Amino acid sequence: MTRRRLHLNAFLMNTGHHEASWRLPESDPYAHVELDHYVRLARTAERGTFDSLFLADGPQLWSNLAQRPASALEPLTLLTALATATEHIGLIATASTSYNSPYNLARKFASLDIISGGRAGWNIVTTAGAEAARNFGLDAEPAHAERYARAAEFLDVALKLWDSWEDDAIVADKAAGVWGDDTKIHPPRHRGKYFGVEGALNVPRSPQGYPLLVQAGSSKDGKSFAARYAEAVFTAQQTLEDAQDFYADLKARTVAAGRNPDHIKVLPGIVPVIGSTEAEARANEQVLEDHIVYTHGVDRLEGLLQLPSGTLELDGQLPADLPPESSIEGAKSRYTLVVELARRERLTVRQLIGRLGGGRGHLTFTGTPEQVADAVEEWFTLGAADGFNIMPAVLPSGLETFVDHVVPLLRARGLLREEYGPRQTLRARYGLPRPANQHVSPAAGSPALARV
Ligand SMILES: Cc1cc2nc3c(=O)[nH]c(=O)nc-3n(C[C@H](O)[C@H](O)[C@H](O)COP(=O)(O)O)c2cc1C
Repeated sequence: MTRRRLHLNAFLMNTGHHEASWRLPESDPYAHVELDHYVRLARTAERGTFDSLFLADGPQLWSNLAQRPASALEPLTLLTALATATEHIGLIATASTSYNSPYNLARKFASLDIISGGRAGWNIVTTAGAEAARNFGLDAEPAHAERYARAAEFLDVALKLWDSWEDDAIVADKAAGVWGDDTKIHPPRHRGKYFGVEGALNVPRSPQGYPLLVQAGSSKDGKSFAARYAEAVFTAQQTLEDAQDFYADLKARTVAAGRNPDHIKVLPGIVPVIGSTEAEARANEQVLEDHIVYTHGVDRLEGLLQLPSGTLELDGQLPADLPPESSIEGAKSRYTLVVELARRERLTVRQLIGRLGGGRGHLTFTGTPEQVADAVEEWFTLGAADGFNIMPAVLPSGLETFVDHVVPLLRARGLLREEYGPRQTLRARYGLPRPANQHVSPAAGSPALARV
């Protein structure tokens, strides 16, 4: 039996995940629009034999530009450029089902999968917040349940589009004068509540069949959606116990949806803050905290908790009468995580902002490389994670430190591959099977895979 190995995904974000990272002397405040910055990060992650890279996204400009670098290059475009600068690593782009149309998006992901030789992944999000909604002709964000209903139909249509070409639809028979076989094209002819898509995609079936499907919302609706469609799940968990509960719940839902629980990989986010000694690591964390602008933090927290501006006192606690998660239409699971964190540890608003500064709710592991490796191993072996979404507090240095000092320990413990070996698709790296085309019996084989 092959040994179970960690899956590592590098969650890249301009100068790092810590909100104050851009203010450090080493940081380039223009990194968010520097291709070279992202090429360097991608190559570093590839040196660390990570499974994949990931870019978050939302179709809106954050409203307080003073806070931190707030604009971002469009992920599919940036990852296409990174595909040509790397060889093995997977490329996962976030795209919203609320503010895209299936035909255009399915085409873009099929294109990235072809260009990268089968390394594309899609982080499927429904996008919380009214700011994005107002950029697409709406006055307010669609209700949470409505967003997930649209997401489910979006996926059904996208899957029909990716399967609209059989793998061997291109015949390329010059002698006979036959380029393609029309009997191997299957137009979706879809008429649904949200979408109408008649014709087949204008891109052939890609090396993976379709991109690795990743999901990142941990509410009840989010988990049901993930159980049905997702092959990897990004999640924020603050304690080992919560992470174990989430893991068990998601795997059980996946079984209930008729799928193999090993075919969905659970990847909690961690923000490693590393030092050669524990004291040095704490000092590195303190430098970041010292650069937080707390008034910005209050604005953001009030936004997340949907409180009127001016409600929160920096040295007070969160209000006792916050509404239940059921009345939140934005990001439900993050709302609950933040409220529970503050209550469990009796944090003041100032302390809570400090705790959220590193990873917006993702767990910060501060310590030596050995301590970070121990924590990773503990969550991996105790049923809390199949791998991790690595979210360095500062970039590029945080990723370089992780790769140079934590990766060798993980390899020495047999938890991480030593090298990539032959080229593989992203889905194969995650240990998942290539999906069959819904129009073809599995015995017919998959010639496109042979080329990767
Ligand atoms: C690691 C991670 C990354 C995420 N990235 C995005 C993102 O890029 N864009 C986005 O709109 N939401 C992102 N989300 C949040 C949710 O997917 C999304 O807001 C969802 O609608 C709210 O989830 P929930 O209500 O099911 O909890 C991310 C969540 C996690 C855990």
